[in-house]
Parts: sequence; C-alpha cells; structure tokens
Amino acid sequence: MRKNIVAGNWKMNKNLQEGIALAKELNEVLTADKPNCDVIICTPFIHLASVTPIVDKNIIGVGAENCADKVSGAYTGEVSAEMVASTGAQYVILGHSERRAYYHETVEILTEKVKLALANNLKPIFCIGEVLEEREANKQNEVVEAQLASVFSLSAEDFGKVILAYEPVWAIGTGKTATPEQAEEIHAHIRSLVAAKYGQEVAENTSILYGGSCKPSNAKELFAKPDVDGGLIGGAALKAADFKGIIDAF
Ligand code: G3H
Repeated sequence: MRKNIVAGNWKMNKNLQEGIALAKELNEVLTADKPNCDVIICTPFIHLASVTPIVDKNIIGVGAENCADKVSGAYTGEVSAEMVASTGAQYVILGHSERRAYYHETVEILTEKVKLALANNLKPIFCIGEVLEEREANKQNEVVEAQLASVFSLSAEDFGKVILAYEPVWAIGTGKTATPEQAEEIHAHIRSLVAAKYGQEVAENTSILYGGSCKPSNAKELFAKPDVDGGLIGGAALKAADFKGIIDAF
C-alpha cells in the first residue's frame, strides 16, 4: 500500500546555522515521539551535507529542492543529481511551480531532471498544479495531465519511485487552501490518470501529496480524504512545532 508522507520544502529560507538548528530540533522532537508517516525535509543545496548526518534516516528523509538537467560540466552555478546524492540525500523536489514560473522549467527540461534524479537513486517529489486563471476556466484537469508528461515517459518500475505533489498555485503561500473536497476531486483525477497509464496497482501505490497553505489547523481534514496521502509543506515547515503539528495529523 502507498505511504503517507509529510515533506517540508524550506525554499530559500534559513542560513546554514539556522538550517542545522531546525534539523536538530526536528530530529529530537520526532525521535522522542515517532511519526505515523514518512517525514522528509527538502533543504537548500548548501544544507544537505550538514543535515544528512544529523538526522536519523529511519525517521527523517532528506531531499534537495532542485537539481540540474545536465550530468556534469560547464554549467556555472548548477548542482547535479549526482552531487545531491553524494550528500546522502534520498529525494529531490522537481517541477515546483516556482521553478516552472520563475526559471522557465518546461516539460522537456523536467523530463531530463527526472531521468537524472532516478539514475542517481534520488526519488523525485514531482509537483503539478494549475494557476488561478486555469482553475477559474475549469482547466485544472488538463493542466495537470500535460505536466505529468515529464513522469509519464518513465517505465512503470521507475514511475513507482516517484512521489506526486498536487499544488494549486493559487494556494501556495497565500493562506488560501484548497478545500478538502477540491483536493480530493483532483487527487482522484490524478490517480485515474496514473491508472490509465500504468494500471490500477501502480496507481494505488502512488503517494499523492497536497501542497498549498497546509498547516496544523487544516492538515487533518485534508489528509482524511482517501486520495490525499500527505502534504508538501512550505511556510509551516520552517518551525519545528508547526511541522510536527502537521505530521501529527496522521
Ligand atoms: O512546496 C511547498 C508549497 O509551495 C506550499 O507552500 O505551504 O507555504 O503554501 P506553502
């Protein structure tokens, strides 16, 4: 059966010392009171090598927020999937709406990133989701279907390593959460697309996380929906107590 997962995305927050302190605090809190779900923290690149040794990897997985679409070479400022994996990280967020919007990451670029992540044993947390105008035009289903092309070119075996995250862009960092019913409706649709491509068994085993202003006060009702298998958390992942509050929704 699929896993329930709460993953934090620190985005471009926390200097190295602050990041280490947060990772230590989370590790302490979650070692003392073990979570009923998988927990992952995705940090800026510079934190990875320091954070992986201080968290108990049976309790907290570590991931990057991005990786390059090239193997290696003259790509100043880029960080490859192999480099990420060499820090001990096990996951990488790919396709986040901020990367798609501000750094012009296309379906083609993301297809390369996904392949390189998997080739380096990193599990992609692959994000999809529509912007407000698309939701208002009732186009969310076709938008997520088009975005899924980056992972639907994978073999069933490789797709089995992918975690999906549905994040309506209009709910990210805005305080406006999708209702549990809205989340369930599109999560069920996403699962039906996976079933049509890879079959029912693969679809049933795929974790689909919800992201967008998820917090301790609304996590329980979101996670109670049958096709919502956890959350990808931004702002509320920056404080151990808030993140723990969301983890405790399971
Ligand atoms: O990756 C996380 C999402 O963008 C959600 O961010 O929880 O701050 O709305 P948020």
